[in-house]
Amino acid sequence: MEKSEGGRKMDAMQAILTRKSVRSYTGQKVTDQQVQQIIEAGMRAPSGLANEPWRFAIVRDPQVKGNIAQLTKHTKVLEGADVLICLFMDNEVGYDLVKDSNTIGACAENMLLAAHAMGLGAVWIAEIRKNKDRVAEECGVDPERYDMMVVIPVGYSAESADPTPRKRTLDEVIIGRK
Ligand SMILES: Cc1cc2nc3c(=O)[nH]c(=O)nc-3n(C[C@H](O)[C@H](O)[C@H](O)COP(=O)(O)O)c2cc1C
Repeated sequence: MEKSEGGRKMDAMQAILTRKSVRSYTGQKVTDQQVQQIIEAGMRAPSGLANEPWRFAIVRDPQVKGNIAQLTKHTKVLEGADVLICLFMDNEVGYDLVKDSNTIGACAENMLLAAHAMGLGAVWIAEIRKNKDRVAEECGVDPERYDMMVVIPVGYSAESADPTPRKRTLDEVIIGRK
């Protein structure tokens, strides 16, 4: 996998084809500028009615990170990441649950691709939604207004770069050709 070096970013197709979920990290620091770039990539996602319902909380504090890590079965993944980006949907601007959820998904994928293109590893953690209100409280935001959709731990990958194989072939997933 080609990592971005010297300001050179991998192209979009290469990033899409080589991205993988990364759940263990080296401990190397992720800069505030890198976090900002990942969030800016999320904000470039399409949104229904252009409502841009995404909101973000950045968690670096070891105490808060540790508390959030206890709210999922993926405790070690969250503890091992240098930073957590918690992705919320703002209920005050949402208009359709399915469409707003799709929008948040597009935002999350943009963030994963950006992290990968920048030479970082990240993963979409949704299992923690069982405790979404407690995650919101740890982040200091109102759980009534902000629906916690995804936690994205980010760090430098300590894993193999091999993309995760897909279970189905192209022919199996193309169900119509007219
Ligand atoms: C909606 C959604 C929820 C997910 N939730 C979790 C999760 O809670 N924990 C986790 O380790 N991975 C989670 N993932 C990541 C998937 O496990 C992963 O994308 C899938 O296994 C394919 O692997 P890849 O991302 O490396 O291609 C989630 C992905 C999506 C899209």
